[in-house]
Amino acid sequence: MMVYLPLLFVFALTANADNVIKVPLQSQMQFPNLKALGLNFISDISQLRAPKGPLRTDSVKVVATVQAGASQVFSDVLVDTGSAILWVGGEKPYVPGFFSKDLKTNFSVGYGAGGVSGHAFTDKVTIGGATVSSQIIGAANFTSGFTLIKPIDGILGLGPTGSNGGEVTGFNSTPTFVDSLLAEKKIDKGVFGIFITPLGTDGSSQAGGEITFGGVDESRIQGKFAICPTYVHI
Ligand SMILES: *[C@@H]1O[C@H](CO)[C@@H](O)[C@H](O)[C@H]1NC(C)=O
Ligand SMILES: *[C@@H]1O[C@H](CO)[C@@H](O)[C@H](O)[C@H]1NC(C)=O
Repeated sequence: MMVYLPLLFVFALTANADNVIKVPLQSQMQFPNLKALGLNFISDISQLRAPKGPLRTDSVKVVATVQAGASQVFSDVLVDTGSAILWVGGEKPYVPGFFSKDLKTNFSVGYGAGGVSGHAFTDKVTIGGATVSSQIIGAANFTSGFTLIKPIDGILGLGPTGSNGGEVTGFNSTPTFVDSLLAEKKIDKGVFGIFITPLGTDGSSQAGGEITFGGVDESRIQGKFAICPTYVHI
């Protein structure tokens, strides 16, 4: 009896759980007072060292590792919630691999600071535990304005579906990485959560952050979970 009980319990939990995929993140310090591109809600540096209240500025860089192309590993891909295109090649060129398909078109994105342009492909893309077999990915050929936040291999734009209109030439808008996970049935809901780990007390980079695709990790949340609009035209 005591042997079977835990097994039944695990089964019940699994049956009810969302299909959630985890992706490790790293927090890296920017020079104090220099704004990084990136998650649009990250706090000032003192808050991240010892978070006490709402987070406000964006002097911290949050990066994920992206695998794409010819078995390439891009370890400093900035996570951004204000853009909605995935591109790589900021530090070393993207090299098309076995799964790469040339879309024979270009992409171009302008950010608050800087911009990027290059050639567009579809490719098998793996980010942590999440793999999309056909994701639109930009191969950067030209970047400007990213000097403050180097190294930057690329940007993982997790912004809203449909917000990247015109950024890939010839397409109205293109599926984000989350859209693709959903379309390929890797996740059940087009939802993600981001947990950002504080920097070390000396400002050192810290692993331990996480994206959850397909759901949120409720153990990271204090208090009630509220839902509010995120994309409002002004
Ligand atoms: C892509 O960019 C190149 C170089 O700027 C240009 O010659 C070409 O016409 C562009 N292709 C498309 C489909 O816009
Ligand atoms: C980058 O752009 C130049 C000039 O348009 C072009 O000749 C070259 O093929 C491009 N490289 C990539 C990787 O797209």
